Amino acid sequence: MLSGESVSHSDFSSSEEDEMNGTDLNRTLQGAASILQIKELIGRGAFGSVYKATWKGLPAAVKVIEHDDEETHASFSPLSTGASLRSLQGIPLAAVGEEPFCTGGQDTPCAKQQEEAQGNAHMVSSNLAATKGSQAMLEAAVSSAICHPNIVQTYDYQVVDTYQSATVLRTEANRETRIIMEFCDAGSLDEAIQQGRFRSSDADPQGPAIVNLQALCLTLLDIASAMAHLHSMRIVHKDLKPKNVLLATCADDERGFVAKVSDFGLSQLQPDRTPSTGTAMASAGEPAGTVAYMAPEMLCYANCSRACDVYAFGILVWELYTGDPPYEQLSKVQIMFGVMSQDLRPEFPPAAPAWLTDLACQCWACSPAARPSFAEVRRMLHDRALQLQPAV
Ligand SMILES: Nc1ncnc2c1ncn2[C@@H]1O[C@H](COP(=O)(O)OP(=O)(O)O)[C@@H](O)[C@H]1O
Ligand SMILES: [Mg+2]
Repeated sequence: MLSGESVSHSDFSSSEEDEMNGTDLNRTLQGAASILQIKELIGRGAFGSVYKATWKGLPAAVKVIEHDDEETHASFSPLSTGASLRSLQGIPLAAVGEEPFCTGGQDTPCAKQQEEAQGNAHMVSSNLAATKGSQAMLEAAVSSAICHPNIVQTYDYQVVDTYQSATVLRTEANRETRIIMEFCDAGSLDEAIQQGRFRSSDADPQGPAIVNLQALCLTLLDIASAMAHLHSMRIVHKDLKPKNVLLATCADDERGFVAKVSDFGLSQLQPDRTPSTGTAMASAGEPAGTVAYMAPEMLCYANCSRACDVYAFGILVWELYTGDPPYEQLSKVQIMFGVMSQDLRPEFPPAAPAWLTDLACQCWACSPAARPSFAEVRRMLHDRALQLQPAV
């Protein structure tokens, strides 16, 4: 990890990098270092390490993904068009695995971010997305193109040659991608569930747990809104679960926080004409994700569509209500076998409200076509949240 010596993608492109002499490079490194200050480790996932940081004076989190330089040299080249964000927000958008797509980093606030990002557009060769470096690029590119109150904001991203400093011991990986994000100060939804933050505070600790349905409904609404936005951009998240939903303190919100979807490490872009429930996009090789949240078509055929995210949401609904991890007593293999061949799903306790069990059951329907869209889920949760509002 090369703390404090970083070069933003917006500071130089890879072709400029080749031409830079030592003095220029040092100046750029110093400039970038004063913008980004990396602090302590706050999280580690399957793909990267996340550090607390400040970026342009704002509290930030930086996800660092180490990889070989060949991967990013091969997959990144400067591009002189600003087509990236237009492509991600509208049409036409090339699919991963078909055509390259273009994007760039961001600066806050949103409108300015998108303008600047267009100016700094880079090309990601998506057919190389199977490598760690290009998947990191894809994560950086996708996340920096999105702006939504319920999605963790990516401010900028950098690709750093870790061998540029003699003070740093070289590891096997000699490049790292840093994704600079807004800092979510209230932990993950997974932690909140474990801490019982969705249980009513006035409930008798000895008696049956009373779920705070209003907080639960508002949190599901946050997630459904984020996912509806992602799907409108034809981005499939592919790893929706409570660990990948972060909470940020919000004094105006009755819960004291808002929920934000994060971690685009597995996300993919869908081809233009793929129906939301279609299964046209097969992932290369092994299906990736977290088994308990993976839809049967994903487990059986590695077929991934927006409907797979809806399935994962159904499991998350159950988890948020019960407070338990799904299929706690089963091994991965048992879960996979059960979901693929026996319609295995978690069971709600009898006291669960019908609207909630209906929602989860619709979302985790075996057939992708039978699952609702996130736009429908959001509408339903919005209406429910109004009904659950305490009378004044
Ligand atoms: N923006 C953020 N603010 C605060 N903590 C974060 C942020 N992003 C990630 N983290 C922490 O780092 C952990 C791993 O991040 P994540 O993006 O999910 O990585 P991975 O792809 O390796 O799973 C998260 O579970 C969370 O605890
Ligand atoms: Mg994660």
